[in-house]
Amino acid sequence: MIDTSKPSVARVYDCFLGGKDNYEVDRQVFLQVDAVAPQMKLLARSCRHWLVRITRFLAGTAGVDQFLDLGAGLPSAENTHEAAQRMNSDSRVVYVDNDPVVAAHGRALLEENDRTHLVVADLTDPDEIFSHPEITRYLDVSRPIGIIHSNTIHHVSDEEQPRKIMSRYVERMAPGSYLALSHFTDPQDGGAGTELARFVEDIFANGPMGSGFFRTREQIQEYFTGLDMVEPGLVRLNDWWPDGPMLTTNLADEVSLGGVARKP
Ligand SMILES: C[S@@+](CC[C@H](N)C(=O)[O-])C[C@H]1O[C@@H](n2cnc3c(N)ncnc32)[C@H](O)[C@@H]1O
Repeated sequence: MIDTSKPSVARVYDCFLGGKDNYEVDRQVFLQVDAVAPQMKLLARSCRHWLVRITRFLAGTAGVDQFLDLGAGLPSAENTHEAAQRMNSDSRVVYVDNDPVVAAHGRALLEENDRTHLVVADLTDPDEIFSHPEITRYLDVSRPIGIIHSNTIHHVSDEEQPRKIMSRYVERMAPGSYLALSHFTDPQDGGAGTELARFVEDIFANGPMGSGFFRTREQIQEYFTGLDMVEPGLVRLNDWWPDGPMLTTNLADEVSLGGVARKP
């Protein structure tokens, strides 16, 4: 059931990416941020570029041929299955989301071939994810897998115990699996970065959307506990093996971190 009276994370993110699968309530959240911090649109785009780069790395260099993209979101210009299947056409990709608009619009666009599927499930329950019949039908979870948590865990509140959730994912991953995770951060620089993080968090988490938590570098690094970080570690998204020299940076680059790690 689509609730158009309350903003949804997937639809608000769609606004930041310039998509059209959103409603007035979602646009209100977007406009509140955009009026003061228009650079957050660039961060959303940087996130999608990061997602494509980490997927290319996993499907190519790392040799991963099955992907679990949690909190997939609404389809965008380039999606995980396109990046993965361009490197290796046999790559299997299962998207997971719990938003009814993603389930409706997303399924049509994301389930492009018989190696790509969308499953409606709750990413905060790793045991349910790893035993979900629709997921295990397409992915062999006893073999290495690429788990993608792109901008998901910052929508999980402290009360829901994100650290515990991520440590269960790490436990369930087969050796040789990879975790790619990006997350909003408060750079705690006592200046403009912190100010931006606090401003956006206030609108996202304290407003009707109800989530979007800017955590510290240390908290985000803890989600990778038990894994070996791939170089260059947990960094600003544009610094994770960029496609070329970065000609410009902006303040919003400071409020998100991402990394990739392998289970030994
Ligand atoms: C900010 S969007 C990120 C989309 C995409 N991963 C990206 O980075 O471009 C977060 C997504 O996570 C989904 N999500 C949030 N909580 C979830 C939950 N408990 N179970 C499944 N999906 C969830 C939302 O519906 C939304 O589509």
